Amino acid sequence: MDPIFSINETSEADYLQVRRFIELVDTDFYPPLSERGGGIPERVDAGLDTPKGNFLVARLKERDSSDHTDGIVGMVGYTRNWKSDDSAYINFLATHPQHRNQGISRELCLRLEEFLGEQEIKRIYLCTWSSNPAAIKFYEKLGYYAYSVVLDDRGRGINTIYYKKDISIPMQNNNIRLDSR
Ligand SMILES: CC(C)(COP(=O)(O)OP(=O)(O)OC[C@H]1O[C@@H](n2cnc3c(N)ncnc32)[C@H](O)[C@@H]1OP(=O)(O)O)[C@@H](O)C(=O)NCCC(=O)NCCS
Repeated sequence: MDPIFSINETSEADYLQVRRFIELVDTDFYPPLSERGGGIPERVDAGLDTPKGNFLVARLKERDSSDHTDGIVGMVGYTRNWKSDDSAYINFLATHPQHRNQGISRELCLRLEEFLGEQEIKRIYLCTWSSNPAAIKFYEKLGYYAYSVVLDDRGRGINTIYYKKDISIPMQNNNIRLDSR
């Protein structure tokens, strides 16, 4: 069966939709993204279509014209040249609350690995927090492993967990199915 969404890189023209999508999922993050550093506007400015990175978005093929995120159902943000020239960092990942558990973030992350792998990137880094079991299960199932934990980093009892994955080692049974090359 054909997926109901396609995956593409964002451009400057997507600024508003990207910003609205991050606002939609803001409070799913701990602490909310709007409360970190320069907040959501700075995150979009720093991450949208720059020489160092961009977002990949999953968009519904059939969109409702009243949808103010223009059909975005998932998004992953990456920064190249993280710890070295051959590594990158996932700076954002979320699926629209009404489209979770449909494999959208899995496909976004697999597409990102493929895309970065073609640019000689060998390792991807990211972090999450200990009270986010969905993300922990998600990343571990995708083959990321925790290499460092900062205790109480986000408040009492809430740790930051740092993950990495060597994408130069092919994973078995990725079952990748993407349609928008
Ligand atoms: C974490 C998140 C991105 C997962 O997105 P998603 O599109 O729903 O995930 P997928 O459908 O691709 O799930 C792939 C696998 O992840 C795991 N997973 C996803 N959601 C899960 C949940 N709520 N509980 C346990 N495991 C979960 C499952 O193992 C799943 O595989 P399965 O369906 O074969 O069991 C999503 O829950 C989200 O947007 N959360 C809020 C924002 C966030 O926490 N982002 C990460 C910050 S670091």
